[in-house]
Amino acid sequence: MRIEKNKVFISGATSGIGLAIARKLHALGNQILVNGRDANKLNETINELKGSIAIQADLSLEEERLRVAKLIQKEHPDLNWIINNAGLAYTHSLQSGGNAFELAKNEINLNYLSIIHFTELLLPQLLANQNSAIVNVTSIAAFRGHASIPTYSASKAALQNYTSVLRDSLAAQENVRVFELIPPLVNTPFSKEIGGEQHGISPEEVADELLSALSLNQYQVPVGLTKQFFQS
Ligand SMILES: NC(=O)c1ccc[n+]([C@@H]2O[C@H](COP(=O)([O-])OP(=O)(O)OC[C@H]3O[C@@H](n4cnc5c(N)ncnc54)[C@H](OP(=O)(O)O)[C@@H]3O)[C@@H](O)[C@H]2O)c1
Repeated sequence: MRIEKNKVFISGATSGIGLAIARKLHALGNQILVNGRDANKLNETINELKGSIAIQADLSLEEERLRVAKLIQKEHPDLNWIINNAGLAYTHSLQSGGNAFELAKNEINLNYLSIIHFTELLLPQLLANQNSAIVNVTSIAAFRGHASIPTYSASKAALQNYTSVLRDSLAAQENVRVFELIPPLVNTPFSKEIGGEQHGISPEEVADELLSALSLNQYQVPVGLTKQFFQS
């Protein structure tokens, strides 16, 4: 893939992995549509990444996804990459009863269903453009769950499966390529509660691996420790 001069929508681009990817793609001369919910973080990001555009939206909400897709179709018909990065995980315990059902619903909604919906809305545009890409951010947790985040892994495993099937479904055409970025534990606000600060790799390392894989058309991108799971 050509990794310069694209127009790229990145969900959750104001922090962590999404921000690291946004910075590197911006430095290469891509225009970034920066998504997130918090207006202050969005302003900070577009002030830093000159020429980028803020798209404030909560992508867990169906009506917000419809609004953003319409806006992109109208104002950015040349957008050719979407990076589905925004996600959430709850630390909780299955031992204590609790509210696993409600938490799992939220995880599956943002980490899986919202991505299927958003992709469906924008796929016709991506197919009409050249050098298009869809990047879905899964996780090392897609291979094996952990008791501290007991319902998150299944949402990422579902996304992993969908991403492979989407790639197969689009194999006969050449305009859209489908990538899966599979990070290990990464040091971001997301992973604070599960030891990311002590044991996580940097988001910049994850972004570097993604850019390299995109340029080489390597569709599955296991990073760091994830490579061991991926090869086994
Ligand atoms: N960190 C890790 O160890 C790790 C490992 C494997 C995979 N991942 C995956 O990597 C992705 C990014 O995680 P991260 O660690 O970079 O997290 P992060 O630093 O907490 O950043 C999350 C980003 O997503 C945005 N966001 C959250 N909910 C959103 C929503 N409903 N709609 C739109 N934007 C939303 C946040 O901004 P606002 O809060 O302002 O909306 C922020 O920009 C996630 O899918 C996560 O599952 C993370």
